[in-house]
Amino acid sequence: MTDQSPQAQVESIIKAFEQDFGRFASFGDPTGLAVLDLEEAVGEQRAAAELRTRYLGKKSALAATKKLIGRVPPEERSGFGQLVQATEGKLETMLDQVELSLGNYIESARTARESIDVTMPGRRPRSGHRHPITLLRERLEDVFVALGYAIEDGREIETDFYNFDALNIPENHPARAWQDTFYTTEGFALRSQTSTVQIHAMQRRGVPVRMIAPGRVFRRDTPDPTHNPMFFQVEGLCVHRGITMAHLKGTVAEFLRRMFGPDTVTRFRPSYFPFTEPSAEFDFSCFKCKGSGCRLCKNSGWIELGGSGMVHPNVLRAVGVDPQEYSGFAFGFGIDRMCALMYELDDIRLLFENDVRFLEKFE
Ligand code: DAH
Repeated sequence: MTDQSPQAQVESIIKAFEQDFGRFASFGDPTGLAVLDLEEAVGEQRAAAELRTRYLGKKSALAATKKLIGRVPPEERSGFGQLVQATEGKLETMLDQVELSLGNYIESARTARESIDVTMPGRRPRSGHRHPITLLRERLEDVFVALGYAIEDGREIETDFYNFDALNIPENHPARAWQDTFYTTEGFALRSQTSTVQIHAMQRRGVPVRMIAPGRVFRRDTPDPTHNPMFFQVEGLCVHRGITMAHLKGTVAEFLRRMFGPDTVTRFRPSYFPFTEPSAEFDFSCFKCKGSGCRLCKNSGWIELGGSGMVHPNVLRAVGVDPQEYSGFAFGFGIDRMCALMYELDDIRLLFENDVRFLEKFE
């Protein structure tokens, strides 16, 4: 380079600069910039600043040419001086332009990234809804409240007294076996039936009493399409002077008519439960085929629902009620079983798996 004439040196600086500047050439107009994202534009800004230092800085080749003035013949001096100055000016202008448009572009890209469009519709949280068992529970609560029943809330963790003894199921009674449940080491058990609430309700409210108690119960069952170790029952209890089996039949029949339509027929079959005497299971005419027989009712025309009976004198005695003065009826059935029937679910476990795609179908 040094054997070049000072003028030629300036010329080759210009050439080198123009080559290096090539990458920025398109940034002068907005479409050239638009291909860059914000991070790339910041990178280009840095590159432009480096280019400025390299060509216009104190240690640049152009700065060095200023020291060559003395070697230029006097008659060329002012021409050379002007060349150097003009070159400096040209490079500066070109870099200024690129840096200005990059700077503007970066600023507006930052603003765009940080700004929010307040007119855009928000993301609405999906509203949930009640579980099918809850929906059904509320429906049957409504029916019983209309019939003058109170809603009782029981406990899910019980002592043997409430789950068995007070319900006339003494230790070693075979009825404890089919209601095997989960026990804690402290002698508590998860209740195997909502019948426990009969005892709590009479202790708390005394008699006369009219209540239903919906709730969760537990049994040591292996899950299958019709069993789950946790399920829901509703218990009913009515104790007053002069209550007879006719009241039981009338109440259950009315409840089922209100649930499944005015044509619904109820039937009672003799059965056995330790806490009732006499005891009966009750069925109702199939709401789907109206009793003519279909898959839902296994062609019998009837759907089995629950157990019932006249409250056993021992149960009344367990809570200090005189069976000579008071009598009552009780009943109980499974809410999830009823739910599965109404929605024709083949598998009761669907109700407990909490698959939102399934649960969403119920409103
Ligand atoms: N607790 C019984 C069960 O879990 C259902 C039942 C039967 C409740 C007869 C009653 C009743 O109140 O009187 O299978």
